[in-house]
Amino acid sequence: MPAQKILAIESSCDECAAAVVDTERNIFSDVIHTQIDIHKRFGGVVPEVASREHIKVVHECVQTALERAKVKASEVDAVAVTQGPGLAGPLMVGVHFAKGFALAREIPLIGVHHLEGHIQASSSMPNALEAPFVALIVSGGHTSLLRFDGPGRIQILGQTLDDAAGEAFDKSAKLMGLGYPGGREVDERAERGDPQRFVFPIALRQKDSLDFSFSGVKTSLRVQYQKEVSKGQLATDESAHDTLVNDMCACLRRVIVDALILKTERAVKKTGLQKLVIGGGVSANSLLRSEFMNWGARKNIEVQIPEHRYCTDNAVMIGLAAIDYFKVGSFAAPSMSATPSLPLPSSLLQEV
Ligand code: KG4
Ligand code: ZN
Repeated sequence: MPAQKILAIESSCDECAAAVVDTERNIFSDVIHTQIDIHKRFGGVVPEVASREHIKVVHECVQTALERAKVKASEVDAVAVTQGPGLAGPLMVGVHFAKGFALAREIPLIGVHHLEGHIQASSSMPNALEAPFVALIVSGGHTSLLRFDGPGRIQILGQTLDDAAGEAFDKSAKLMGLGYPGGREVDERAERGDPQRFVFPIALRQKDSLDFSFSGVKTSLRVQYQKEVSKGQLATDESAHDTLVNDMCACLRRVIVDALILKTERAVKKTGLQKLVIGGGVSANSLLRSEFMNWGARKNIEVQIPEHRYCTDNAVMIGLAAIDYFKVGSFAAPSMSATPSLPLPSSLLQEV
């Protein structure tokens, strides 16, 4: 059968994205309209504002994705869309647009779990790892260790009990007066900072836990940051303040990566799986990337991390995750609706 074309749409948070991929995992276009500049002034995503922006741009995003892919609407064989989890309003915009497109052209609709998208974000890389593997998804909304046995067959091994890793980066950045979202800036500043100057705690170290907790790191950073600032001279010494922030960033990045490696190593041991796929916005972090690659080489574990552009939210990953559903004809009913707290599919598809 010749390769079939899938139009994919992602709108779960503050990125409106559309892409065209085919069933051979070729990527033809990748369009992302980010709302970061709009939400920046509020210091976080405002759901209602995000929904309105999605409504404004979704049509143009899809149009541009089709044009860049040189694919006519009539040549699309299926539409994939993020069904959840995410923000209700933004999800609804993508889901309704996808439903309308599929209905008008009488083609199948596929609802994708956002985390399954992040897991599949690197699946078009040459020599991509085959299931089963452990997946570590680290983003602004999630920090989860998963066992991936194949499309639609995902089990939670551990997850954060409070803040996600990205959230810890973003909230700490905000506290130190950095921009939103803060993960990238923290990463850049950390390169110039001293990772030994402050000690932040790793929570839930106890033997068996595969869960994470990052709210204590954020609190510890706040207390130590305020203590330093209250010493007074920083208010007039810009360069000392800059050094303080860089050092805080380096220590924050260090402790988050250490916590992720500690729990991931346990998950790998527990499952006996020697393969790890990482995904989500925080997997763009430079220390995370180098440390996990070194760790994998030391422990003889294959580690796969997406290219930078596919770490943060995008529609390519949604299209890639939809391929196996398309191949076995597992389509969404016309009544499918956006599901803000969609559970991970644990037994949706059998062997593909
Ligand atoms: O996957 P994503 O785009 O959205 C969610 O599904 O949440 O992830 C966004 C998160 C934000 O918290 C952002 O600060 C973080 O990814 N992030 C980073 C880096 N780039 C993005 N965190 C640490 N280092 C980075 N280089
Ligand atoms: Zn995401």
